[in-house]
Amino acid sequence: PGKTDITDANFPVDGEGRTYHLGTKRGEVANRILSVGSEKRALMLAEYLEPAVPGQGLFMLESSRGFLTITGRYHGTPLSIIVTHMGMANADFVVRENRAVVEGEMAIVRLGTCGALQPPARLGSFVVADPGAMLIRRNPDAFGLEGEQSDVPPYTFSRPIPSDTALSQALQHEAALLLGPEGVCCGLNATADSFYSSQGRSTAWFDDRNESLLADLLCCYPEAVTLEMETAMLLDLARCSRGSIRAAAGVIALADRTSNDFLGADRTQQLERAAGQACLAALAHTQLDDTWGPHHNGST
Ligand code: URA
Repeated sequence: PGKTDITDANFPVDGEGRTYHLGTKRGEVANRILSVGSEKRALMLAEYLEPAVPGQGLFMLESSRGFLTITGRYHGTPLSIIVTHMGMANADFVVRENRAVVEGEMAIVRLGTCGALQPPARLGSFVVADPGAMLIRRNPDAFGLEGEQSDVPPYTFSRPIPSDTALSQALQHEAALLLGPEGVCCGLNATADSFYSSQGRSTAWFDDRNESLLADLLCCYPEAVTLEMETAMLLDLARCSRGSIRAAAGVIALADRTSNDFLGADRTQQLERAAGQACLAALAHTQLDDTWGPHHNGST
């Protein structure tokens, strides 16, 4: 087949073996991955990578769908930074399509942003999803005509999904070194299928029936501290990866969901740099069964 021919609709790759949405192939992605939400954050953190081969640049590839992959080394260890954008469907692309092009055991850490629900998570905290994350889903069956009563609850809560304990603890340890112990905490994350309705935000334009959502969440999960849109998908896929993926996540609290305060852009960027380096260090220090990385020099 030619370069872009796709022959298998079950898992589409082109004639070069490039995945359909991320566009990468074997040899271009490391088995340690930092997943971030924005291109700006990825390029800022790529400043901490060295080229995989001295004298060459970092590997960078942006797919037609806007997924940017940057591969290099962090303190000598092969590592990729990948722009995941937002939401569960994008997290699904990133985990599955990278799994398809990487050999051996993988470690994936997400660095994201979130809303803080309650202490110890505060505006500006870096919060590690330890013990894990649960999922809040909007249920369309509950929404008939406006005002119509339904016996179906408008939102459902999944059970908690665990994160990798060692990777989560390494993330907290590295983050405490860079942000100070008071800047880091941990707790259960809630991943929502929308920034708006299923995170309890309301406007007059939509009938969302979410007035009591955050109170219901805290009643069901009093230990929930953060709200965002990707972590539960990452942890669920790692759990179902037949032992081949270890995953953890940390999020910077940029919205306070009690006061509705929002973190300033300068402070957010400072925290992204520090928390990002903590994620890179935690990944680099993680032992994986397989030392394979791209541009492997054959010495291990
Ligand atoms: N990301 C989210 O998903 N929610 C917030 O409140 C802030 C960042």
